[in-house]
Amino acid sequence: MRGAHVIIAARNIKAANEAKQAILKNNDNAKIDVLELDLSSLNSVNAFVHTFKALNLPLNILINNAGVMFCPYQLSQDGIEMQFATNHLGRSLMSLIFLLKKF
Ligand SMILES: NC(=O)c1ccc[n+]([C@@H]2O[C@H](COP(=O)([O-])OP(=O)(O)OC[C@H]3O[C@@H](n4cnc5c(N)ncnc54)[C@H](OP(=O)(O)O)[C@@H]3O)[C@@H](O)[C@H]2O)c1
Repeated sequence: MRGAHVIIAARNIKAANEAKQAILKNNDNAKIDVLELDLSSLNSVNAFVHTFKALNLPLNILINNAGVMFCPYQLSQDGIEMQFATNHLGRSLMSLIFLLKKF
């Protein structure tokens, strides 16, 4: 509504596109893109940042809300406990790469 260009970063592209369509239904001027991001995967985090940078958009606000809570014990693709990988490592890595501008 304020004219921001919003990137929805999600592992579930179908759900993200549905969210995008729901927003566009209420505001057909909304600028929204969907990019794939699996926060539990360090490769996915790197790929997301590269794709975002290629868009040449400014990064003004980063909302790190995605997370899991008390999921059954499982390991991420990188062999790290899933809740720790998702809630801590993934978002910290993403924020660090953005801050350090190392792409
Ligand atoms: N609800 C509470 O009472 C509460 C309390 C304290 C803290 N929190 C924290 O607040 C945040 C949001 O909670 P919520 O209740 O809204 O949770 P939620 O309904 O389970 O939503 C979590 C979102 O995170 C996404 N997500 C999970 N793992 C992901 C991954 N590896 N990569 C990308 N996206 C991923 C999920 O995507 P999918 O659609 O793909 O599953 C989902 O959209 C979480 O970090 C949670 O730990 C919640």
